[in-house]
Amino acid sequence: MAKKIKIGAVISGGGTNLQAIIDSCRSGEINGEIVFVGTDNPDAKGLQRAEEDRIPTFVTNYSGIIKKYNNDPEIIAAPDDFIYEDILTKQSFSPEGYNPEKIKKFLVTRAVAEDDLLKQMAPYQFDLIVLAGFMRNLTPYFIDRVNTDPLNPRIMNIHPALLPSFPGVDGYGDTFRYGCKTGGCTVHFIDYGEDSGPIIGQKSFQIEPEDTIDTIKKKGLELEWQLYPECVRLFAEGRLKTEKKTFTLDNGKTFERVFVTVV
Ligand code: GAR
Repeated sequence: MAKKIKIGAVISGGGTNLQAIIDSCRSGEINGEIVFVGTDNPDAKGLQRAEEDRIPTFVTNYSGIIKKYNNDPEIIAAPDDFIYEDILTKQSFSPEGYNPEKIKKFLVTRAVAEDDLLKQMAPYQFDLIVLAGFMRNLTPYFIDRVNTDPLNPRIMNIHPALLPSFPGVDGYGDTFRYGCKTGGCTVHFIDYGEDSGPIIGQKSFQIEPEDTIDTIKKKGLELEWQLYPECVRLFAEGRLKTEKKTFTLDNGKTFERVFVTVV
């Protein structure tokens, strides 16, 4: 039998997706085990789920770091190997014209937090990191230190919308308020943008006239608990192939995109 993969999880809240992955590892559907659960939120309910399963946990204090920076930016030292220009050029969170001070604050405080995440993860070997309701954007500082081979991405995320529609923090809410007739969820590898990385899988549901934001969330979450373990299983089976494809548009311009194919 193939070797069990080691999975690190990062969460911010209830951890129901984490639970679905824990259960699928336990049942053998995923040939893997969760080796740590990290969070930015010491009160995350999902921490209890991890502890019940004797999975080691840790907290990275994002809000403490941001508060310190707000009080005095000079006392926050970026990690020694942080190269501001490099991270600024790679990331695509900030639209052009965005306030440079805000971008600097965002990238420096996140790098400090990500350095702490990396240090707390360092004792564990892992093949994959699953972001399971983690409500912070990870910057190129973190991504490059985990994805050492760009064609072998190792950080997966679940998003509560049919990407590329409705990236951001409230996917189901945005879907509902737009008046969509179909909603859904997406699992993707992360890249340097917000919810923009190569898509691994999606599931959709119908939105009926009587649906409310709560019923939509319920429908969506139930699909998430199926989709996320399925995608992790495919990763564990070595069945996710990543390749760069180049497309030529009608106007002659070309663009490249990383694609995930299930083999
Ligand atoms: C899920 O709906 C997940 O898709 C969403 O947060 C919820 C977490 O639930 N993630 C994001 O919005 C990421 N931007 P859980 O903690 O019960 O798994």
